[in-house]
Amino acid sequence: MKILILGADGYLGWPTVMYFSKKGYEVYAVDNLSKRKIETEYGVEPINILKPFNERVNIWNKNQKNQIKYLVADLLNYKVLCEILEEFRPDTIIHYAEQPSAPYSMASREKAVFTQHNNVIGNLNLLFAMKKFCPNSHLIKLGTMGEYGTPNIDIEEGWLELEHKGRKDRVLFPKKPGSFYHLSKVHDSANIEFACRIWGLKCTDLNQGFVYGISTEEMELDYENLSTAFHYDSIFGTIINRFITQIACNKDMTVYGKGDQKRSYLNISDTIKCVSIACENPPKNGEFRVFNQFTEFCSLNEIAKKIKNYADKNKIRSNVTHIENPRIEDEDHYYNPTNTSLISLGLKPIIMDDNQIDKIFKLVKKNQNRINLNTLDPNIKWKK
Ligand SMILES: NC(=O)c1ccc[n+]([C@@H]2O[C@H](COP(=O)([O-])OP(=O)(O)OC[C@H]3O[C@@H](n4cnc5c(N)ncnc54)[C@H](O)[C@@H]3O)[C@@H](O)[C@H]2O)c1
Repeated sequence: MKILILGADGYLGWPTVMYFSKKGYEVYAVDNLSKRKIETEYGVEPINILKPFNERVNIWNKNQKNQIKYLVADLLNYKVLCEILEEFRPDTIIHYAEQPSAPYSMASREKAVFTQHNNVIGNLNLLFAMKKFCPNSHLIKLGTMGEYGTPNIDIEEGWLELEHKGRKDRVLFPKKPGSFYHLSKVHDSANIEFACRIWGLKCTDLNQGFVYGISTEEMELDYENLSTAFHYDSIFGTIINRFITQIACNKDMTVYGKGDQKRSYLNISDTIKCVSIACENPPKNGEFRVFNQFTEFCSLNEIAKKIKNYADKNKIRSNVTHIENPRIEDEDHYYNPTNTSLISLGLKPIIMDDNQIDKIFKLVKKNQNRINLNTLDPNIKWKK
């Protein structure tokens, strides 16, 4: 099986590359390294020192029989993308290669345009290149649970059975995304569904909750050299990373607004398992399949409480304060998303317990001297 991984230098891309290589797949890893570049625009960097993309691949290749092939290339370069697909003809394409931060996309007109241009046009280029060179490949595309927003009805997996004025239809689930980044994912999903419908491509769109966690089985083989990025800052870091970094630095955990906003999340090892399950159970030609990829959901206050319980048990000082919400979002809402598809295909969820929090806490403590406290609290507001 040949697998093309786009966004292979990223937080999720790199562990995915190692996972499929270890499983014996022929892996082609592609990234334009833009994430490492846009981090510097805000003076943020991962807490851990990351090896450059080529070095990480070379270290892996030196110690493993199954060699990873890699290339620095941009999805916006249609000609190069076509060359990759024509030469490699993948069975599966995993597409992570997008700008992934909501705050970044809300910082200015330029950042919103950059995000939507990069994400939407990159994805569109991929669809056209697939149609031309590998129409039978299975596209696994990373979307987000944030595409749905927080509607006052149960969130289904991508589609909704609708009855209106006595007639019935199956329609894409109505979306109410919360940032220009999330909107880019909604546009991607609509473009992919259309390409499946008119060209017969096949795709699994994974609407993923936010991911926490620092390691996977393959990283543990040589953590110093093979680790993935851990962001704790308010632009690229997710809430669990930020809260744990705050308690490690003897700072209050800062909850945005009332904290009753509910969100879904999963462990990084479960991301890899979900992608693997999707890969091994492809949809049929012409099918646009959507899985909601998360294992737990709760409010921001409940996440803070879990981390506080861990801190209390380990005699670490912790306190929760509420700060003005930089985002425009419902703070008091119904939330009941469905996630049965991946579980019915065999996913056994990892629960965020003290053991998971402890692993992150230890990494943060080990790298405490690299933390820039000024980057923890939000400086990008949805409404200026
Ligand atoms: N991490 C999460 O919590 C999370 C949650 C939901 C969805 N997602 C989605 O999963 C995917 C991966 O997320 P991540 O956290 O690993 O992000 P990341 O920024 O760490 O990785 C994305 C990688 O894609 C590369 N890239 C971006 N644009 C590119 C382009 N035009 N051409 C080639 N490479 C390009 C970047 O350099 C980066 O290495 C993203 O699409 C993201 O939106 C992530």
